[in-house]
Amino acid sequence: MSREIRITPSILNADFSRLNEEINRIAASSDLLHLDVMDDVFVPNFTFDLARSAEIIDDCPIGVDAHLMVAGVDHVAPAFAEAGCESVTIHVEATANISMTAKAIRKAGARCGLGIKPGTSIDDYADYADEIDMFLIMTVEPGFGGQKFMYDMMEKVRRTRSIIGNRPIWLQVDGGVSLETISAAAEAGADTFVAGSAVFKAADPAAMIDSLRAAANSADQ
Ligand code: DX5
Ligand code: ZN
Repeated sequence: MSREIRITPSILNADFSRLNEEINRIAASSDLLHLDVMDDVFVPNFTFDLARSAEIIDDCPIGVDAHLMVAGVDHVAPAFAEAGCESVTIHVEATANISMTAKAIRKAGARCGLGIKPGTSIDDYADYADEIDMFLIMTVEPGFGGQKFMYDMMEKVRRTRSIIGNRPIWLQVDGGVSLETISAAAEAGADTFVAGSAVFKAADPAAMIDSLRAAANSADQ
């Protein structure tokens, strides 16, 4: 089955001191920009608060896919949608009320993603499929770029694909995605791929995005 493939590069490993230039290098080849928001509580790392994120969203020439790795996410997620994100992902491990927050995100005009850490089962969240627009299966422990892709998450990706069935829900993988690993994720059923270090450590980031897209397309036959 041939699915629409999306590449959503993460700027976590980009040079933050010249972020606009870094984003402009990859914008034309990317579907959305993946913005990793970390609070040093839900994960042991800090990236951007809402104010800095809003500036990035305003300056970004393409849509932003915010990945919220923050505790108490229900309080802040709708503000990311209101700030103009195209997609806002909340983690099941950080929310007290998935339905309420998903509704608020969508009401503010964004797509809602549901993030699942490696140790969390997807089956407990299958019932939310009709309330969201994307499942995000983490293929590393959230917190840092440049980690090793967890091949043992492919079974969860397969299971998520079968839960989705023919609903128009995106299936994103995030962590360690590279030219070496993207085919396994595409074969398992992912259609939306975050890639951070693979893109920003490449000599030509835009060309790397094109290569990742081609690899995902040829794996997903
Ligand atoms: C990890 C982040 C990812 C990650 C991507 O917590 O959510 O977006 O940094 O970077 P790479 O592709 O280097 O694993
Ligand atoms: Zn991410």
